[in-house]
Amino acid sequence: MHEIPLTMHAMVLTGHGGLDKYEWFETWKTPKPQEDEVLIKVSACGLNNTDVNTRTGWYSKNVNAPTMDTELGLNIADDPAWGGTPISFPRIQGADVCGYIVEVGQNVSKSRIGQRVITDNWVRDENDPENIEKVGYLGSERDGGFAQYTAIPSKNALEIISNLSDEELATFSCSYTTAEGMLARAKVMDTDTVLVPGASGGVGSALVQLAKRRGARVVAMTTPEKSSLVEDLGADIIISRVSSSWVDEIKSEKISVVADVVGGSLWKELIEILECGGRYTCSGAIAGPIVELDLRTFYLRDLTFTGSTVTETAIAKNIVRYIEDREIKPCLAEVFPLSELKNAQKNFMEKKHVGNIVVVP
Ligand SMILES: NC(=O)c1ccc[n+]([C@@H]2O[C@H](COP(=O)([O-])OP(=O)(O)OC[C@H]3O[C@@H](n4cnc5c(N)ncnc54)[C@H](OP(=O)(O)O)[C@@H]3O)[C@@H](O)[C@H]2O)c1
Repeated sequence: MHEIPLTMHAMVLTGHGGLDKYEWFETWKTPKPQEDEVLIKVSACGLNNTDVNTRTGWYSKNVNAPTMDTELGLNIADDPAWGGTPISFPRIQGADVCGYIVEVGQNVSKSRIGQRVITDNWVRDENDPENIEKVGYLGSERDGGFAQYTAIPSKNALEIISNLSDEELATFSCSYTTAEGMLARAKVMDTDTVLVPGASGGVGSALVQLAKRRGARVVAMTTPEKSSLVEDLGADIIISRVSSSWVDEIKSEKISVVADVVGGSLWKELIEILECGGRYTCSGAIAGPIVELDLRTFYLRDLTFTGSTVTETAIAKNIVRYIEDREIKPCLAEVFPLSELKNAQKNFMEKKHVGNIVVVP
């Protein structure tokens, strides 16, 4: 029987701003699971850009800059969190948990104790689970996994049977559900050729693998130093985002889908390169959220645009199945102790890694 301490180690976000807004506590109160919740002993937790964007207030409409250029101290009183509603502090971030259930609320079967789980990051309305307006995100609207323990709804703790390490399993939740959600909305199938900008990133590396899983041909755009690792993920063609001739290099390809989390200055070309009837699906804009669209390209070429953030409930469960069936593999770049989250996030923001960075409490 696991003895649960009254207090725990936790990295707590105390407000919007720089990395100094994270404070380390060794006596933070251990959460108690509510009646429909489970308590997870966190083994590892992945980093993601939602944590960075929320900390800096990047989601505010006052911010036009790329994620990494965001100046702090902006007026972020409006719309500072992903969902348009301010979050409350103190907040424990971290959505991508791998851990073990150690306690359950009164409505949850005790047989769940001991299960190894990863998280479905979308906390949904019990009676209206597919309603995308009634969701919260782990580590944003409620506390997440940058701590020794986290209490979350039982439905969000998905059992997983796998030989992968806890650190490897903590790389999947956010990136892979996001990527699969994009591919599902764009209805990607084996006749498609999918262009993936930012292919070395968390979502990008997931898009490469999950598009291949659907049988599509994949053109991956990345920085040259990361090419061979991205190729190992299964990309058919690699192009360099710093090359001025990348459009010419793939002229012979018929790009039917662009699956984008980058946006920014390349965006115009990403749209121009789509074949007639092509689909553009987007879940992020790390290189800049404000872009210029020639509406003639959009309608004369019969393009379809899909935004994608909140995924259908089945998607996280499907990702667990793909991991268990070894259809997708982890891409673990680096592991830091939780107490060094600030250094981990600094490395994460430098974008020299492929896949994801994880912290362990
Ligand atoms: N809507 C959602 O639910 C959701 C979920 C997850 C992520 N996102 C968003 O999607 C975006 C990417 O997330 P991620 O986790 O894949 O990010 P990541 O792991 O940090 O990877 C981002 C990659 O984008 C490429 N990139 C190109 N231009 C860049 C620039 N100016 N600054 C930084 N990176 C640049 C780099 O890859 P190369 O070197 O390979 O070019 C970089 O490694 C973020 O904006 C994030 O907030 C949204």
